[in-house]
Amino acid sequence: MPKDTNLGVMDAITKRHSVRTFTEKPVSNDQLDALFQAARLAPSSLNSQPWRYKAVRDKSLLTEFGKKEISRTQAWLAGAGAIIVCCADTEGYVRDSQASAFFYRENDLIKGDTMKGIDEYVERESSAAESARFGAAAMNVGISISFMMLRAVELGLGTCWVGMFNEQKIKDMLGLPPGLRIVGLLAVGHPAPGQPTEHKRKQLEELVLT
Ligand SMILES: Cc1cc2nc3c(=O)[nH]c(=O)nc-3n(C[C@H](O)[C@H](O)[C@H](O)COP(=O)(O)O)c2cc1C
Repeated sequence: MPKDTNLGVMDAITKRHSVRTFTEKPVSNDQLDALFQAARLAPSSLNSQPWRYKAVRDKSLLTEFGKKEISRTQAWLAGAGAIIVCCADTEGYVRDSQASAFFYRENDLIKGDTMKGIDEYVERESSAAESARFGAAAMNVGISISFMMLRAVELGLGTCWVGMFNEQKIKDMLGLPPGLRIVGLLAVGHPAPGQPTEHKRKQLEELVLT
């Protein structure tokens, strides 16, 4: 797929398809950096930015990702140019939410009951079970993954979000810190010819409530 620098947002959305077959052409540092720059601009609750990324390009590690114990034998992952392991920092999520609330209060940016509501929200997140905190942080990470997927289209790259994986095995394999939870894998590469062009989707009538 040639690089297209003049895409509108809807063009990128329409052109994006999950890509699972890639050419041998490597994914460069600049391309990874461009994806991360897009991810970093994603919105997040209380600007907590809980996303962390680990890019893997080592061929032997990519092969490991395709194995049964890591991805239930999604062998095509071995052919990706890179796999971005997209993580949520669940502790950082709480810490940075608290920091934002503090900043809003100290600078009198948000007042009265709205500020009280934010304080209560942050307090609830701080004392929530790890699974609830992970869910909230993961929602933010998911948005940033979407930003990367759309930027990838503009760069002529293909992506596929992979949600079927063994989290602990990947954490052990890559030596990821215990405070990080894996939200998803983003396979990235130069699309091989013959990618899908149609979107199989529900009709709007089914999605939009009247
Ligand atoms: C949260 C999530 C998890 C997914 N997990 C996988 C996966 O493990 N393996 C895979 O091949 N595709 C996976 N996909 C890709 C979907 O199958 C794909 O987005 C969907 O079929 C629509 O096709 P499209 O992306 O080409 O529009 C996942 C997508 C999302 C958003």
